[in-house]
Amino acid sequence: MRVSVKLSLLLPVLGICQTVYANDAERGKVVAEVRCTPCHHLHLASVRIGPGLKDIFNRKPVIEGVPYERWDEVALDQWLTNPRAVKPNTEMVMPPLSGRDRSDVIAYLRQDKSDVDQD
Ligand code: HEC
Repeated sequence: MRVSVKLSLLLPVLGICQTVYANDAERGKVVAEVRCTPCHHLHLASVRIGPGLKDIFNRKPVIEGVPYERWDEVALDQWLTNPRAVKPNTEMVMPPLSGRDRSDVIAYLRQDKSDVDQD
């Protein structure tokens, strides 16, 4: 008991158990790999179940029926909050993302990945 109390006080001071991800985008990459890759290639334009997300940030939607010129931060946030609220008959259906997951995925997608040509 005594030891664990002391450790729990000490670890934050040492910075251990605090920094798991270097930044939001790095965490967002992990979230995207788990939550998006079942249906999307992240770095290819080709279709998996949904369209490829290559260079998605700030590019024009390839899908019909969404009221956006570009997939910017606001558009992606609305879409990832609830695709059906944006496009009632969309086939993108997934369990909700938490607010943190959403903003970290967007931070990841907004990074320039033009030098990445893998899935
Ligand atoms: C269950 C499969 C599925 C999952 C999981 C999924 N999507 Fe989709 N997504 C789709 C489908 C299908 C479409 C096409 C929707 C339509 O045409 O209405 C789509 C469309 C999109 C589009 C529009 C692409 C464009 O170029 O216009 C974006 C952006 C998008 N998804 C992002 C994501 C992100 C980011 C994730 C992970 C957080 C994700 N999706 C998870 C199936 C999925």
